[in-house]
Amino acid sequence: MRAIDWLWIIHPFLAVTVIYPLIGVVARLGLQTRQRRVETAKLPPSTGRDHSNQGQWLAAAVVVIVLIALAVVIGSKGLSSDGGRDATALIPLLLAWLGSISALIALMRVRGAVLRLSFSLITWLGLLSLGAQPEVFRLSDNPLQPAFWQSHYWGGVLVSGLMIFNLAARPEILSHPRWRQVHIAANALAAILFISQGLSGTRDLLEIPLHWQQPFLSQCNWNEATCDAQPR
Ligand code: HEM
Ligand code: HEM
Repeated sequence: MRAIDWLWIIHPFLAVTVIYPLIGVVARLGLQTRQRRVETAKLPPSTGRDHSNQGQWLAAAVVVIVLIALAVVIGSKGLSSDGGRDATALIPLLLAWLGSISALIALMRVRGAVLRLSFSLITWLGLLSLGAQPEVFRLSDNPLQPAFWQSHYWGGVLVSGLMIFNLAARPEILSHPRWRQVHIAANALAAILFISQGLSGTRDLLEIPLHWQQPFLSQCNWNEATCDAQPR
């Protein structure tokens, strides 16, 4: 494996070793928070606070691993010698990347509702604008096609949006029953999306060849699954 191949596996590596274990912890603490409230189960009073604190790290970590994936995809394809862009054309994208990460940090610090709403929108729009670049592979952009729903990219931005919503609405979830119901529904959907990301991500990992194999495999007919590639 070359350095570039290692760069491409940073995102799946972090998803498997950091995100998925955290999802287990946060979901379990969330369910215990609910049990404590509804069934008055004998659980420590810190359960809700622990869930919220760990949830905050989960939500931030999901956005960070998505930003890492986007940086690797855009950086490696955008700077490649065949069909890449001029390095200066990537500067606005670098600024958008830095803007998204700064907005995420700000979102975790500000208190006022308007500021939380603004920074959450900036963070999510940052992900969407980076994801809209031609270097980022998307199976389909049409929600009416089945391929859209199998797309690792669209599942990823959707679940990131739900995590950003959790971060932004933390005080409301804490104090309003109606918001807690919305929170539970949003995270039931997030749980399904996380599982489908695990499936679409491992599928993509299987389909992305090592860097030295790419010139050969690009000569193959992927639609008909035939290949008589010759060394160039
Ligand atoms: C795997 C994802 C998650 C699941 C399944 C989940 C589930 C839950 C459940 C079942 C409750 C209890 C609601 C009730 O008592 O009626 C809850 C409460 C809460 N959650 Fe989550 N949640 C998740 C992620 C997050 C994240 C990412 C955050 C913050 C960024 C968060 C913040 C909160 C807060 C502040 C409460 C209220 C805690 C309290 O009442 O003391 N959750 N969650
Ligand atoms: C928390 C769950 C995950 C989210 C939110 C997520 C999201 C994303 C996004 C938005 C991209 C950029 C678009 C693209 O190139 O398709 C991406 C790329 C990618 N993801 Fe994930 N992903 C997650 C989990 C996984 C897992 C579990 C794997 C595999 C084990 C994986 C493998 C990949 C691969 C191979 C890429 C191509 C770019 C790269 O490796 O940096 N992802 N992911």
